[in-house]
Amino acid sequence: MQTPLDRSIETLARTGMTRFFLRMFDDAPELLLKNLTVEAVGPDRTFKIGGKWLRNFGSDSFLGLDQHPAVLAAIERGVREWGAHNGTSRAFSEVAPQGEAEAKVAAWLGTEDAVIYPSVTLANVGALPALTTRHDVIALDQYAHNSIEEGARVAKARGVRTAKFAHNDPADLDRVLRGLRPFRHAVVAVDGVYSMSGRLPPLTEFQRVARSHDGFLYVDDAHATGVLGTGGRGTVADALGDYENTLVVGSLSKAVSCLGGFVAGTRDAVEVLKMRSNSLIFGGPVPPPYLTAVCAALGVIGSAEYAGLRAKLDANVAALVSGATDLGFTVLGGLVPIVSVLIGTEERTLRAGRFLFDAGYYVQSVVFPAVPHGAGVLRMQVNANHSAEAVGGLIGALAELRETLPAQGHDSPLLVPAQREAVSA
Ligand SMILES: Cc1ncc(COP(=O)(O)O)c(C=O)c1O
Repeated sequence: MQTPLDRSIETLARTGMTRFFLRMFDDAPELLLKNLTVEAVGPDRTFKIGGKWLRNFGSDSFLGLDQHPAVLAAIERGVREWGAHNGTSRAFSEVAPQGEAEAKVAAWLGTEDAVIYPSVTLANVGALPALTTRHDVIALDQYAHNSIEEGARVAKARGVRTAKFAHNDPADLDRVLRGLRPFRHAVVAVDGVYSMSGRLPPLTEFQRVARSHDGFLYVDDAHATGVLGTGGRGTVADALGDYENTLVVGSLSKAVSCLGGFVAGTRDAVEVLKMRSNSLIFGGPVPPPYLTAVCAALGVIGSAEYAGLRAKLDANVAALVSGATDLGFTVLGGLVPIVSVLIGTEERTLRAGRFLFDAGYYVQSVVFPAVPHGAGVLRMQVNANHSAEAVGGLIGALAELRETLPAQGHDSPLLVPAQREAVSA
């Protein structure tokens, strides 16, 4: 007999998005390269799926630190010293590597302090409500990452007024904040880099507008951590010169190749975040071995070795961008090590991904709802440990793809600028 749970699930399966996915699976099962199981990982960013070895162009581990001996040794040491997990919320106690990793993040960035959450999503969902009360407001860029939006939603449910402003537009931020008056303080939340378009926010102008409304900046620099800015410290210090009146969010799960997300800023702000972030108080921490690994990974990023890794990464990105552009693809991104080429409809995009997969290259076919309907892209994540030969091989496979899948006309919905930005990371 059907339970209410069964009936509820059945109803959900009939709603828009789920129905769309189920239908896509039914219509073209051979095209769907989702929920893949990786059977083994090899050197130089190769992996095995379905018994076949492929070059993996789908990893955010941009610097290849996931395979770095110092990082692997630190995880092993962490397991030996602390076990798999300390098994308690930080509200009760924390292990010494927690404070060490947070101090390392702050010292590396040049902020007074930092707090590490288990992910950037949990940082945004915890910090934005923690930084506001019902007397305050949050203004967010219309294309800010989904997790900023989620954080703003939680704050809104607690009585904080929130509003979006036009992408990268300080005049519109000013208009939106004027419209929200009266309020006590404003949080202006933006991404540090929009990973698909490679656009940077005008932080100096945003800072000026924020200050004029008694507000401060909250910059999610997840995609920039380790790969953009001086020494890989991200976009904020380079743009603003300092961290005054700004909180910076960064990722420890992408280029840093460990686990977690941090918020960095003044000691007082971090103290308040620790006391008021529900995702920290009511959830568990990053496991100790990953905290020791964060220390090791930041050690590599802060060492002389970093310049070589970054040079290799930048050279691979430049080669792929120019190779794909020369082939006539419309290329998005390339500032962060994510290079996307516009393909078009869901089916064309899935076919293109399958074509490259069969040629030995895994890239992500990104279709609706991650991008607008009919605006699919092939997303290629470039890493420092891709060989030049692998990047050249991918460009060769893209050339063959071009022959089998001619370019779409200029009336393609892909060419509407707003849609380019809408592609979420
Ligand atoms: C800007 C930004 N914020 C947050 C996240 C989510 O990070 P996490 O996987 O650590 O939750 C991402 C992931 O791509 C991102 O690009």
